[in-house]
Amino acid sequence: MIWTILLLFHGILFFFFLSNRTRSKREPPLDKGVIPWLGHALDFGKDAAKFLTRMKLKHGDIFTVRVAGRYVTILLDPNSYDAVLQDTTSLDFTRYAQVLMDRIFNLKLPNHKPDSEKSIMRRHFQGESLTCLNHAMQNHLWTLLTFETTAQNQTNWKQDGLFGFCYSLLFRAGYLTLFGGEQKNNCMDAANVYMEYQKFDSLLIKMAHTTLKSGEKQTAGSVKQRLWELLAQAGLRDNSSLWLQSYRQHLKEEGADEETQRKAMLLQLWATQGNVGPATFWLLAFLLTHSEAMRAMRKEFNSATMPGTITLDPQQHTPVFDSVLEETLRLTAVPFITREVLQNKTLHMADGQEYDVRRGDRVCLFPFVSPQMDPEIHHEPEKFKYDRFLNADGTAKRDFFKGGRRLKYYTMPWGAGTNACVGKPFAIQSIRQFVFLVLSHLDIELSDPEAQVPAVDASRYGFGMLQPIEELQIRYKLRERPCVQ
Ligand code: HEM
Repeated sequence: MIWTILLLFHGILFFFFLSNRTRSKREPPLDKGVIPWLGHALDFGKDAAKFLTRMKLKHGDIFTVRVAGRYVTILLDPNSYDAVLQDTTSLDFTRYAQVLMDRIFNLKLPNHKPDSEKSIMRRHFQGESLTCLNHAMQNHLWTLLTFETTAQNQTNWKQDGLFGFCYSLLFRAGYLTLFGGEQKNNCMDAANVYMEYQKFDSLLIKMAHTTLKSGEKQTAGSVKQRLWELLAQAGLRDNSSLWLQSYRQHLKEEGADEETQRKAMLLQLWATQGNVGPATFWLLAFLLTHSEAMRAMRKEFNSATMPGTITLDPQQHTPVFDSVLEETLRLTAVPFITREVLQNKTLHMADGQEYDVRRGDRVCLFPFVSPQMDPEIHHEPEKFKYDRFLNADGTAKRDFFKGGRRLKYYTMPWGAGTNACVGKPFAIQSIRQFVFLVLSHLDIELSDPEAQVPAVDASRYGFGMLQPIEELQIRYKLRERPCVQ
């Protein structure tokens, strides 16, 4: 009894301490919100972009908010981002990542060494190995796309939702490329994994926020169980990529048991397959609703094929595609870059101001608000402009300014610093290849010619690629004679 009272007393003291925090002069503006302990958690979770834009108007480029008992300092000046990204001593990436790993994947890795994992991945996602992966991905995309279109009567249009069409094809091709699959029945295996993954993905944000209702908890549990079983052989069979085989071997050497290894396979499935499909959806949605962009894209692809073939020359530069992708990601890639403060620290801002942040707090960059949607950097930032990242002479545009200073970070869909996306070149080539295949081998159009790009699901802000709130209906059929025009 005495222990219960003591614990309760400490709990109340701790709660009081957290609620009663006051700002010292050298700290960023503090906004605790009106709800005790929760602070701004509800607004943050509902639509982080809207909430943080409102806070920026109120407090400026740096401020601290209370979110479910934690104090989070938000930094929104891209000229000052390096103050966070380059400090790996006082600011730590792994702790928060581990919290999410546990919440979403029930995964606790023994002797977790993120640097070794990253170096395994870097080794397999560059140079000769990357060329092999790109080639395998291209073959799987081609097989799945032709299977999809010839399974029906070739001359008939097929109706579909563009999001499901892109996500399902890229996910299955990516899964077969990296994870391998049942030797005898590749396509069914990949389709089963995709089906279960979709259920998992639909609950992912609630898992991360720990807001699953009791029925959803059960569903999440059983879906994860099924995925762990489906992924049991990933990295063990010969047709898994060399990267996944090395990673699984690494897990064994680190002392991870069989169950932990399977859980880690699901984590990798999410990291490698969760963004490419949605990114390609947005890109094609913008092309289908912006005829000038579509014309420019087709023209460029037409001149980038290998002579006498309908195959994209991997050596050819495609600046129009690069700009379309950059612009698509500027509007729809929305990561949080979060660090845990390990020791009290002073943040030096680009304008000369200094702010103290406290040990135990988190610091978070949200590049979507700035640079990506910052009107000072990108004129009419809410509009899709396919040539925003092109100079007048057709070369890639890299000069963007804020406060008179040239920006190092003018868009940040791939993260930055030590935790920047390792799979970026593979992702870009997969998207480029898929868009090329679709435009050259399919007649594809909007079911309703007046349809617009759907709104985003605002609850997904902060978790990488956004997803649409509803489908964009398309119809497509295989071209009798493939060509890009
Ligand atoms: C459009 C597609 C993609 C986008 C927008 C994207 C974006 C990102 C971002 C923003 C991060 C940093 C996360 C953070 O700081 O917390 C990241 C990390 C990562 N990405 Fe990607 N990614 C994509 C595709 C891929 C692909 C295809 C792979 C692998 C095949 C991949 C592998 C990784 C890995 C392993 C990390 C973790 C790096 C680390 O912890 O240091 N990504 N990605």
